[in-house]
Amino acid sequence: MPAIREGARGAVISGWGTSLPEKVLTNDELAATMDTSDEWIRSRTGIAERRVGGTTIGLSIESGRQALEMAGLDPSRIDALVLATTTPDKQWGSAAVVQHELGMRCGAVDVNAACTGFMYGLVTAHGLIAMGADRVLVIGTDSLSRITDYTDRATAPLFGDGSGAVVLESVDGDGELLGWDLDADGSALGILQAEVGGYIEMEGKEVFRRAVRLMVDSAEKSMAHAGVTIDDIKLIIPHQANIRIIQAACDRLGIPIERASVVIEHTGNTSSATIPLALADALDRGRVEYGDLLLLVGFGGGMTAASCVLRWGGDAQ
Ligand code: COA
Repeated sequence: MPAIREGARGAVISGWGTSLPEKVLTNDELAATMDTSDEWIRSRTGIAERRVGGTTIGLSIESGRQALEMAGLDPSRIDALVLATTTPDKQWGSAAVVQHELGMRCGAVDVNAACTGFMYGLVTAHGLIAMGADRVLVIGTDSLSRITDYTDRATAPLFGDGSGAVVLESVDGDGELLGWDLDADGSALGILQAEVGGYIEMEGKEVFRRAVRLMVDSAEKSMAHAGVTIDDIKLIIPHQANIRIIQAACDRLGIPIERASVVIEHTGNTSSATIPLALADALDRGRVEYGDLLLLVGFGGGMTAASCVLRWGGDAQ
């Protein structure tokens, strides 16, 4: 992928929001219905509980509404809505319904790149702003409980429902995006897939092995394009699939896991929502200051990988 073209119109995130369904599904509740245990799930994945029962449209409306409110924007001022999801409520139109319900009057599109969907959406939104849009709402939402087989102990503990959203606004100057990478390898689709109308099927060990390599490769490309090294990164915002994958990726990149934003314990893997949920958590906890460099990086079905380096607040030094 190319480095960002000199003089491209920049953007910054000016608001964010999150949404999780109310129903909590704990490891113990899962263990009551299948041959597993809280200890096994926690030690192998870092997950203690997940939220289930949301709809993609409903969760998106809530996180999107919060992001607009924080940005102080009337919905009519948004120029485009990009909704990343791999679990649309219907075959098409999820983004359009969210657009309508939030009172926006703009183009609206569903983007499906599995767990890297939010990253694909965020990079696309920066591209729309480079081409003249002023404000773009990017939402990452998944309701994976609908495509999870709760009789399969190999997959059921991993997944949950959730949503995160950001408002991106154009700025004078370079904006926040310093480097980005989008990657895909369709030869590996079979190790993590879901037929239309079916459940998630996965070769866990092989996904694990590739995931770490994909994240590290993509992160290194984004950092090279940004002209920075891992030592410059204040916080890594990784896809939350398994705490051991996050740990292994941090080890290989040479960043301590204390500099990662981790929310997996209480959310599980929410696919398109993990990165915006982890980003919002870091922001809400005051872990990010103006000028800090953030590395967002994920992998997912396809297989896909994606990352970017952001300078929080744009070209502040
Ligand atoms: N509870 C108890 N035992 C379980 C279990 C569960 N929920 N799931 C699997 N097991 C068993 C297996 O049957 C196997 O038993 P055996 O040795 O008698 O055959 C044993 O535990 C080890 O299974 P294995 O699949 O080798 O475990 P693992 O250490 O690879 O961990 C995952 C399994 C799924 C947690 C791990 O491979 C993983 O996280 N992979 C990546 C998945 C992912 O991130 N997917 C989403 C990508 S976006």
